[in-house]
Amino acid sequence: MASELTGQELDKKLFGDDFAWGVSTAALQTEGSCDIDGKGASIWDTFSAKKGKILNGDKPTIACNFYENYKEDIDLVKKLNIPNFRFSIAWPRILPKGEGEVNQAGIDHYHKVIDYCLAQGVEPWITLYHWDLPQALEDKGGWTNRDIIGWFTNYVQICADAFGGKVKNWMVMNEPAVFTGAGYFLGIHAPGRMGLKNFLPAVHHVVLSLVAGAKLLRKALPDINLGTTFSCSYIEPYSDKPRDVAAAKRADALINRLYLEPILGLGYPTEVAAIKGVQKYFKPGDEQNMSFDFDFIGLQNYTREIVKYSFFTPYIGAKLVKAEDRNVELTDMKWEVYPPCIYHMLMKYNSYANMPKIIVTENGAAFPDKVEDGEVNDTKRVNYLQTHIAQVLKAKQEGCKVHGYFVWTLTDNFEWAEGYHPRFGLIHIDFETQKRTVKASGHWYANLLG
Ligand code: NOJ
Repeated sequence: MASELTGQELDKKLFGDDFAWGVSTAALQTEGSCDIDGKGASIWDTFSAKKGKILNGDKPTIACNFYENYKEDIDLVKKLNIPNFRFSIAWPRILPKGEGEVNQAGIDHYHKVIDYCLAQGVEPWITLYHWDLPQALEDKGGWTNRDIIGWFTNYVQICADAFGGKVKNWMVMNEPAVFTGAGYFLGIHAPGRMGLKNFLPAVHHVVLSLVAGAKLLRKALPDINLGTTFSCSYIEPYSDKPRDVAAAKRADALINRLYLEPILGLGYPTEVAAIKGVQKYFKPGDEQNMSFDFDFIGLQNYTREIVKYSFFTPYIGAKLVKAEDRNVELTDMKWEVYPPCIYHMLMKYNSYANMPKIIVTENGAAFPDKVEDGEVNDTKRVNYLQTHIAQVLKAKQEGCKVHGYFVWTLTDNFEWAEGYHPRFGLIHIDFETQKRTVKASGHWYANLLG
């Protein structure tokens, strides 16, 4: 499969010794134990308790109970020969109200997780914000309230002080375009807010918080490998008609460039006129606090989108042509399987003059896996990973500064508004019994990395 694409076997040696191979997870999606040891409520606890917000009424209350099962799961990371394990810290475990009193039990818990990783020879990679905002802060406006810059940096400082001596790799935030777009514009993710009046202030405060958090970490922990992660989709116009091409450019600005470009010092993209409304939330001096020289940018890509002009779509004048209507191979998220997408996105990121190292911090696929005779024969996922990793290699061989690849994800888990239905894991979870079964894709990845 890979060899058909690249003319050579997929061999980890081809990526070099310093290439970081890993697997990524997130607290809210895996930990469960939602109200254990003093944890405060997150916006996802509140949102998922409302009727009709999550598919099948699923809740993150138990998930994979990684909070209690962390040893078993880190043992599996080791067993699968995966040297780097990315997980996130839950802000409401550290500060149940988001600010104020620190919950020592939360700090102690992450020490145990980090120590266990290190004892197994697995390198921990921490994400500080993977979407689980403390509800108490959302009650004060969440990301729309400029005070969040202070709330966030306070949280970052506490984590830096607590874990800085042990953890070498840090990511400030995960996919801001998704948590602000889905959570503060479309209302389909927590906290369920809608419209430009929520979205635009959230965008600007996220950029300022991201940079303030990064500056603080750099000062407190000058030797760490510091990054942040961005979502991206490879975007192509539906036709070469000028209005489809222009619509694709606007979609690209919103989906791929909204956060990346300010962070690289290029300011907000202006192709979508509505984005200019962000100016309303600027204060003097903000321009100087919107960019940061990260050690790496985490690129997260799953698919491509085909974009068409649409008169009826407000602000953007563009719509995505559903993959279901395009007669292409689909994952369980109804996303197209299109391996060259990751190659194109890597090359696109690489073409920015001041792009630092790139690490693919997420890539993977959901398929309807079943345990049969104690095994999960997920050939579609094996094929997905193999073909996408081959495209990463292609980019690297063409000079792209890509320095790592992390599979999304270790175990099946809570996929946000889609609940437990999409299974992304290298390891199958029976959510009734919590039994873990390594899928064929897990064995395949172990073999690649072994
Ligand atoms: C992006 C997010 O970071 C992660 O939380 C999510 O589960 C995967 N992509 C798959 O949708």
